[in-house]
Amino acid sequence: MAPTPTREDKFSFGLWTLGWEAQDPFGGPTRPRLDTVEAIHGLADAGAWGITFHDDDVFPFGSSDADRDKAIADLKGACDDTGLVVEMVTTNLFSHPVFKDGGFTSNDRDVRRFALRKVLRNIDLAAEVGATTFVMWGGREGAEYDSAKDIHAALERYREAVNLLGDYVTDKGYDIKFAIEPKPNEPRGDILLPTVGHALAFINSLERPELVGLNPETGHEQMAGLNFTAGIAQALYHGKLFHIDLNGQRGIKYDQDLVFGHGDLHNAFSLVDLLEHGGPNGGPSYDGPRHFDYKPSRTEDSKGVWESVRANMSMYLLLKERAAAFRADPEVQEALQEAKVLELGQPTLGEGESYNDLLADRSAFEDFNADAYFGGNGFGFVRLQQLASEHLMGARG
Ligand code: GCO
Ligand code: MN
Ligand code: MN
Repeated sequence: MAPTPTREDKFSFGLWTLGWEAQDPFGGPTRPRLDTVEAIHGLADAGAWGITFHDDDVFPFGSSDADRDKAIADLKGACDDTGLVVEMVTTNLFSHPVFKDGGFTSNDRDVRRFALRKVLRNIDLAAEVGATTFVMWGGREGAEYDSAKDIHAALERYREAVNLLGDYVTDKGYDIKFAIEPKPNEPRGDILLPTVGHALAFINSLERPELVGLNPETGHEQMAGLNFTAGIAQALYHGKLFHIDLNGQRGIKYDQDLVFGHGDLHNAFSLVDLLEHGGPNGGPSYDGPRHFDYKPSRTEDSKGVWESVRANMSMYLLLKERAAAFRADPEVQEALQEAKVLELGQPTLGEGESYNDLLADRSAFEDFNADAYFGGNGFGFVRLQQLASEHLMGARG
C-alpha cells in the first residue's frame, strides 16, 4: 500500500499538467478542458499542498482586463477555500505565434520587448498570489538552423532580460527568486541553456546571480542522455536547486512527461534518496516543493487523469520509504564503507599538508603499489547497486 500524501509532503502540481487536453503534433485533444477551480479542489482532496501555473493557463492570451481579473479572483478563491498555496508562477512565452522564434531571444526586437512586458506583468501577479519562485523555461529560445541564431547575441539578450528581471524584483522588494529550467530540444530543434551545466555557467555571468537558480526537470536531463540525479546533485552542490520538476522519461526521445518514477526507476530512487537525505557524506538535501511537471497520457480520460495525479505522489512516497530503509540498513552502510563511498568524503590532503609534504611522502608515489589494482582492490559497486535494487523492490527491510 502506498502511503497517503499530506500537506507536509509539499507536493505541488502545475495547472497545465492535469489540465492538459492531450493534443500532440499528430492529433487534437482527447479530453475536455479542466476548470481551474475544479482542478484546485481535486488536488487538495488528493493531498497536494500547492499549485503552480503559467499566466495563459489561468486566463487565455489576450484576455480583457476584466476576464483576467475574474480568472485570478476565481483562482485565489479556490486557494483560500482549500488552503492550497501558489508556490511558483511561470510565463508562457511559447504558445502564441508571436513567440515562434522565442521571447527573450527572438531575432525580432519588438517581440523581445513584448516578451519582457508579459513577464513583468506576470511577476506582479506572482507577488500578488504569494509565489516565491518564478520559473523560466525557454522552450522557444533556440533554433533549428545554425545560421538562424547568433548564439553570442542570443546569450547577451538572455542575460539582458534576466538582469532586468532581477532589477525589477529588487526595486519592487518582491520576495521572488528565479529558476531557469533547462531542456535540450523540443519544441525548438536546439534550445539555449540545454542542460543543468549550461544554465549554471550562464547564471554565473549575471549581475545578480544570487537571485537565480535552477528548476531541473528530471526528464529533460534524460533527453540529453544525462543522469538527472547527478545533475541535480551538482545543482545542490552549488546552492542552486531552487525548484524541481519531477516526472518520468524513457531514454533519449521526445519529451514524454510521464508520471514520476514511470521512466527510469533506479534514477528516481537515487534522486529521492538525495533530495531526502543529501549525499552519503553529508551533502545538502532539498526542502523545497516536490513539484510534478508531467502530462497524463493522451490515452487517459478524466478518471485516468486523477489516477495519474495520485500516482506521482504515491511513487514519491514509496521511493522515500525505500530510500529510508536503504540508508538505515547496516549491510548497506557496510557496503558503502567497503566501496569507499565514505572515504570520498575525506580530503585528499591531510590537515595543513602542503604540496611539498605530498612530494616528500614516498608512500604516495615511490612506494605506492599501483599494480595491486590489477586483479585486486575492486570497489564492490555492483554489490551496492544490488542492495539498492533489492531495497527498491521491497525485497529487504
Ligand atoms: C516541458 C516543460 C514545461 C515547463 C513549463 C514551465 O515539459 O517542456 O516542462 O512544461 O516546465 O512550461 O514553464
Ligand atoms: Mn518536460
Ligand atoms: Mn518542466
